[in-house]
Amino acid sequence: MDEPKQPGSSLRTGLHHLAVETADHDNCVAWYTEFFGGTAAWTLDSFSDLTRSRLPGIVRLTEVVAAGTRFHLFSRAASYALPRPDMLQFQHVCMTATTVAELQEWRDRCQRLFASGRFSFARPDPPTEIVVDDDGVSSFYTYDVNGLEYEFTHIPAEAEGR
Ligand SMILES: [Fe+2]
Repeated sequence: MDEPKQPGSSLRTGLHHLAVETADHDNCVAWYTEFFGGTAAWTLDSFSDLTRSRLPGIVRLTEVVAAGTRFHLFSRAASYALPRPDMLQFQHVCMTATTVAELQEWRDRCQRLFASGRFSFARPDPPTEIVVDDDGVSSFYTYDVNGLEYEFTHIPAEAEGR
C-alpha cells in the first residue's frame, strides 16, 4: 500500500544540474572542470525542437560532472546577444563545505585560479574574504568566468535549522 503523501516528506527532489550560459565555451569548460575538480562528460551540438525553443540559438552544450552535481554549460550562435556579466542569470548558487578547513581550501583554489592568468574573467574580482556570522556560519562569495556569483558556506551542526 502506498504511504500517505505528506507535504515535504514523501516527495523528494534534489539538484540535477545548473545551466550556465557562457560567451566563451572553452574558457568556461576549462574553469569549471579545474575549479570544481570534475570532468566534461559529454558535449552536444545538435538539439531538439524543445531545447531550441527554450534556448534560441544554442550551438553547444557541455555537461561537466563535479562536486556532486552537473553543470550544463552552453553557448549560443554569435548572432545572438552574448551574455554580459551585468545581466541577471542566477542571483547566486550556494555550495556547502563540510568543514571550515574545506571552505578555506575552496577559497584558496578560487584565488589560485583567479591569479593564474590562465582564464579570462568577465568580472575580474577575486573571491571575498571568509566571513563568520553570529551563528558560526562561515561563507565567502566569488564569480565564475562568466560573472555568475557563487556562495560557499560551512554551516556547523549547531546552526543547522536555525
Ligand atoms: Fe546565499
